[in-house]
Amino acid sequence: MDLVELLKQAQTETIIKAILSDPRQKTYAYTKTIVWRIDDEESYYQFEAFTQEQAFHTNVKQEELIEQMAQLASHYKQIQIITLENEWALRISKKGKVHVTKRQNSDVPKARKHNVEKAYILKEGQPVDFLIHLGIMEASGRVKKKWYDKFRQINRYLEFIEDSLNDLGTDSPTIIDFGCGKSYLTFALYYYLVEMKKINATIIGLDLKESVIHNLNILRQELGYKQLDFRVGDIAMFEYDASIDMVISLHACNLATDYALEKAVKWNAKVIMAVPCCHKEIYQQMQIKPMEGILQYGLLKERMAALMTDGLRGEILKSYGYEVQIMEFIDMEHTPKNIMIRAYKRHEKSRLSKSYLDTCRDYHLQPTLERLLWPD
Ligand SMILES: C[S@@+](CC[C@H](N)C(=O)[O-])C[C@H]1O[C@@H](n2cnc3c(N)ncnc32)[C@H](O)[C@@H]1O
Repeated sequence: MDLVELLKQAQTETIIKAILSDPRQKTYAYTKTIVWRIDDEESYYQFEAFTQEQAFHTNVKQEELIEQMAQLASHYKQIQIITLENEWALRISKKGKVHVTKRQNSDVPKARKHNVEKAYILKEGQPVDFLIHLGIMEASGRVKKKWYDKFRQINRYLEFIEDSLNDLGTDSPTIIDFGCGKSYLTFALYYYLVEMKKINATIIGLDLKESVIHNLNILRQELGYKQLDFRVGDIAMFEYDASIDMVISLHACNLATDYALEKAVKWNAKVIMAVPCCHKEIYQQMQIKPMEGILQYGLLKERMAALMTDGLRGEILKSYGYEVQIMEFIDMEHTPKNIMIRAYKRHEKSRLSKSYLDTCRDYHLQPTLERLLWPD
């Protein structure tokens, strides 16, 4: 059967997610493309194409899915398709011959056919202890209406975690969540790794706020989450004797993100996930003569400073051998602070790029992260 026919057959089972990987040509820009089914008022598909450094998103109508996937498939050797019923693995030869294996998708109950929204990692209708404790879900498993956005954000976050699991390189990872705050996402991380995936993970949440940490420790005891620990402390001062495999820092303010990145790099963390917030440092330093007219508007200057800060952070991580991706964390409608820096340790430390040094020189910038990691 040819590829288009196979894709059409898979779509009769409703494609929830597809992963196109192993590019045919090394020069092909996109190392992987993930296709997500999105169920808003009207369902559509989002194509998330990854280069070495970035992810690009395109939305595709349902009726165009097969055509778009077939076009894209010519660039890849492997396609994994998850439908409501089965998991399909397609291997495409040089001559375009398709080898297919199919197994039942035990994770997706048939009853979900009419409600694809539940293709999330945490599923509505299945009670999840921490969501019930945090008041997001009712004991029956129904998500409370006003918490639906949070439920979606938690699921989106877990998808990012799922994507990075192979890169942890250990069955017993230690993970730190810097600036964990109320820790919806920290609990979700624990639940997903330890309770769902049965991974022997140790997770630490750190925050400045004593009362918040006190309450979180009570909650994790009530839940019996033994390998989760919350501590009071400042990221910049935090020390840990054992190795740390993954560092997470979500919405930690201004330089707190830089200290989180510094720690991650010094620990040689294999995966880093940071969603920065409030980029005051570069905002104050930035002088761009030719753009004075544009930057007279505080809002635009703020956005530009934020983009430059995160771009420079990415460059510094690269100098330490990280493969860096800059991507959207959640939809803009929830918060403008939605840029995620995701980094994987792949190479040895080298040096700061010319582009980084030129940018700092031309725009008169002295980022804290450079001072912390490249002090000379
Ligand atoms: C906006 S909240 C984000 C909470 C959580 N990470 C999330 O995304 O839902 C930021 C948290 O970072 C904490 N924080 C800021 N600076 C910190 C620092 N230097 N050390 C530890 N925690 C810090 C704050 O106390 C606050 O709880």
